[in-house]
Amino acid sequence: MSRFWNPLVASLHPYIPGEQPQFLDILKLNTNELPYGPSPAALTAMREGCEDSLRLYPDPTAKTLREVIAQTYDTSIDRVFVGNGSDEVLGHAFRALISPESPMLFADVSYGFYPVYCGLFDQPYQEIPLNARFEIDVEDYAIPCGGIAIANPNANTGHAIPLEAISRLASMQPDRTIIIDEAYVDFGAQSAIRLTEEHDNLLVVQTLSKSRALAGLRVGYAIGHPDLIEGLVRVKDSFNSYPLSRLAQTGAAAAIADDKWLTQTTRQVMATRERFVQNLAGLGFDILPSCANFVLVHHPAHQAGDLLAGLRERHIIVRQLSAPRIRDWLRITIGTDAEMSRLIGALASMGLTTR
Ligand SMILES: Cc1ncc(COP(=O)(O)O)c(C=O)c1O
Repeated sequence: MSRFWNPLVASLHPYIPGEQPQFLDILKLNTNELPYGPSPAALTAMREGCEDSLRLYPDPTAKTLREVIAQTYDTSIDRVFVGNGSDEVLGHAFRALISPESPMLFADVSYGFYPVYCGLFDQPYQEIPLNARFEIDVEDYAIPCGGIAIANPNANTGHAIPLEAISRLASMQPDRTIIIDEAYVDFGAQSAIRLTEEHDNLLVVQTLSKSRALAGLRVGYAIGHPDLIEGLVRVKDSFNSYPLSRLAQTGAAAAIADDKWLTQTTRQVMATRERFVQNLAGLGFDILPSCANFVLVHHPAHQAGDLLAGLRERHIIVRQLSAPRIRDWLRITIGTDAEMSRLIGALASMGLTTR
C-alpha cells in the first residue's frame, strides 16, 4: 500500500504469471509453451526485418498481418483485430463489449485473468461452477448477464465443448457478447470462427503463444462481426495505437501463413500427450481428458504440493493453480517425448511406482 495509489489500484488482485526461471538446467512445464522453436519462415522474416525501417512506427492497423489472418480463416479483414498477446485482446474485449450493468459470467475453473480484468474495469462477475466431470454446461449460462467468456478448450482442465453448444449459447444470449478464448484450440478442439458469420455476438480470440510457439513475440487476435471489431479498435486507439511492433507484425504474418509447420508440431504434441497420459495412468494418477497442450492431474495418494516440491528438487517445474476446486491438482505442459520421459522418471524416483 502506498499513499500514491488511487483506491482502484489499492483494490486490485493482479494476475500472477507462471514462473520464468532465469537458470538454465530446468525442465519448464509450467506455462504451456511449445517445446519446439517457431516456424523457420517466421524467424527468417523477423531477421530480415531487422533493418533501417525500424526507425519508423509500425502500421497502427497491422493491415498486412490482418490480411494474412483473414486469408487463413477465409474471412474478411474488417472481421479481424490484432493485439499484443491475446491477454491484451481479451482485456480490450472485456472493456469494450461487456455490459457493466450485470455480472459477467465465466467458469469457476478457467483462465485466471478473467476475474483480474473485471477487477481492473470494475465489472461485476459471477463464476459458474463446472459440472461434476469438470466440464462446462452451456445451459448454466442462460441467465441474465453482462457478457460471457469461455475458454475452449478450457484453461487448466483441457476440456473442449462442441460447436453445437457454442452456437446454442450464442442464440440463448443474443444481446450479450460471448467471448470464446481459443488459446489451445489447435491441440484437438474445433474452432468457432465459422460460427461468427452466423452469430454477430460471438468473438473468437486466438494467440500465437501456444501452438505457434511465439509466446515471446506477444501476438494475439480476435475474429468476429465488424461492429465487435470496431469496439475493440476504439479501445485500442484510446490506449496504445501501436501495440504490435514491426517485427511482431512481420513474424506473426509469416508464422500464421506456415500451416504445414503448425500441422506437424501440433500433431507431435498430441501424440506425446497420449503417450504421457498412459504413463501417468500407470503411476496411479487421475487425468482429465485434454484437448490442450497440458494435462490436469491428481494423485489419490500424494498431495499436489508435495509432488510440486519433489519435482522442483529435480529441476522440473509444473503448475499448481489457486482455484479452490483444483488446489490438489497439478497442470503439466506437454513437452517433447524425452522431456515427458524425464518427468515420469522423476516421479518414479519420488516413490510413485508403476502398476
Ligand atoms: C486460456 C488462455 N487465454 C489466453 C492466454 C494468454 O495468452 P497470450 O497473452 O500469451 O496470447 C492464456 C495464457 O496462458 C490462456 O491460458
